[in-house]
Amino acid sequence: MLPGNVAGRTAILLALGLGGLALRAFAGVEERADALLAQMTLAEKIGQMVQVDSAALKDKADVKKYFLGSVLSGGGSDPADNSPATWKKLADEFQTQALQTRLKIPLLYGIDAVHGNNNVEGAVIFPHHIGLGATHNAQLVERAERVTADEVAGIGIRWAFAPCIAVSQDSRWGRSYESYGSSPELVGELGAAAVRGFQGAALGRNSVLACAKHFAGDGGTVNGKDQGDTVCDEATFRKMFVAPYEPSIQAGVGSIMVSYNSWNGVKLHGHKHLLTEVLKGELGFKGFLISDWAAIDQLGADYRTDIELSINAGLDMIMIPAEIGTPHNYAEFIADLTDLVNLGKVPPARIDDAVRRILTVKLAMGVFENPRTDPALTAKIGSPEHRAVARECVRESLVLLKNEQQVLPLKKNLKRIQVVGRAADDLGIQCGGWTISWQGATGNVTPGGTTILEAIRQTVGPECVVKYSADGSGLETADAVIVVVGEMPYAEMKGDRTDLQLAAADQALIKQARQNGAPVTTLLLSGRPLILGEALAASDAFVAAWLPGTEGRGVADVLFGDYKPTGKLSRPWPNEAASASTETKPGAKSAFPFGFGLSYDEGGRNGSGQTKTALAK
Ligand code: GLC
Repeated sequence: MLPGNVAGRTAILLALGLGGLALRAFAGVEERADALLAQMTLAEKIGQMVQVDSAALKDKADVKKYFLGSVLSGGGSDPADNSPATWKKLADEFQTQALQTRLKIPLLYGIDAVHGNNNVEGAVIFPHHIGLGATHNAQLVERAERVTADEVAGIGIRWAFAPCIAVSQDSRWGRSYESYGSSPELVGELGAAAVRGFQGAALGRNSVLACAKHFAGDGGTVNGKDQGDTVCDEATFRKMFVAPYEPSIQAGVGSIMVSYNSWNGVKLHGHKHLLTEVLKGELGFKGFLISDWAAIDQLGADYRTDIELSINAGLDMIMIPAEIGTPHNYAEFIADLTDLVNLGKVPPARIDDAVRRILTVKLAMGVFENPRTDPALTAKIGSPEHRAVARECVRESLVLLKNEQQVLPLKKNLKRIQVVGRAADDLGIQCGGWTISWQGATGNVTPGGTTILEAIRQTVGPECVVKYSADGSGLETADAVIVVVGEMPYAEMKGDRTDLQLAAADQALIKQARQNGAPVTTLLLSGRPLILGEALAASDAFVAAWLPGTEGRGVADVLFGDYKPTGKLSRPWPNEAASASTETKPGAKSAFPFGFGLSYDEGGRNGSGQTKTALAK
């Protein structure tokens, strides 16, 4: 008998469908998982449910001693010599320990490859998700994540904590740039494309395990407060924040990371209804749930209660960052969970369900047969063909907001171009947070990239003189002025803001550049739309470039007309009056609406010409 309400009916019908789809993702390995499970001791089972940060593993032999199922390197846990070879050596050493256990169950090593493999020096850094969202191009997103998967496997790692399928509703949130946008439909479609890029059509030996995150409601918190509270009724929560996971489940995503935030005051890491009844039950998710960093510490009165609540809610694997994020450690976790099972507070069936899910994913990925990645992939990290894909993403991410008198495209044979602003020649600003370090940094953060200034110089004709002033001093007369302004790098809660005004210094720099008398093109490098104040009026042309990453040539390709701008806003642009919290409320007035983006009247090629998402037609 179907439930009376539409939501319930739809969910059940969907689950029957999704369940079938998701089930196919792991067909043929579930029996092997059950056979292995039957041989395992409680210690071996609980070990599989533990993921330890590499910086907290003082003795790699603990992987073997505690039968650890996974290792991660969080944002700040890079090896000292941040080279691909050193990463690969580290990954191989951890795997060697895992393969020396009684049952030789290989471990999965996870990393935040959230815009390329942004952890290792020399890797290609792609535009952050807010820029990929502006492409509205699912096929391009899939190609981008396939390149990322190769650059992750190139350092011996086969699990990426991506895609983030947050549906950001308030640009004051410090993780707005990790979201494809404010539309659950667009986020769902691009998230599933990313899963296919990482994993392929189904989990297999060439897959890098994707991790849809953070389930759920991370982008809907009050005032955009990171790890805050999302307040709304269940129908709204499902439509805005649960629905975008369905396409990823249909695409066979093998892991989902649970979110720090709460919904109506209840922490997601302890939410049995959403994690078990909805995600695993109704939506038929057959992979495993991983916790986020130290999130379980926020659940109960003490650590043992945290563990009991999170595992019984449906968490299958627990991330334990040790000293960096929590005072607890993996030996303590294992002892506590063992006691909880022996005391009957965590049912053995819950442990078996969690371990079966983890083993099923590992078996489907073929890590038992191929526990190490192809060494040939290491040499492809940062390759020209990989950079070409990122450059294409940059081109298609740019959104042209203003172009008075067709100032753009600029001619390559202009006599003199004046470039202004420190952001024009700073790879770190261009890449933003989650680049080499957790928070990112200004300066030349990684080898192999091209700044916007360098790209301009590589694009113009031999007779064109390009002058540069980081601070606007010494401006010389020119045929065109290009000003590059924007946000300094940040990540997560460190990027939360109370207001969205473009910095006064940036607004002043644009007005100063205008005194030069030549047409002014302003490029904004930011993780979100900003309230532009006088900047828009002071610019003849204005381009939202988001956080484009290492391939600055993609910006010059569009500025000088080799390609037309095709980017469309993936979220409304707040106006002077509206605060961020009203930017996506029904009826809210925005400076530019969702889907806005100008192009050139003539000349230049369109983007990759691939099919766009349904929303961008
Ligand atoms: C962080 C983030 C999450 C990331 C994880 C591991 O706190 O919330 O997105 O994957 O920790 O670095």
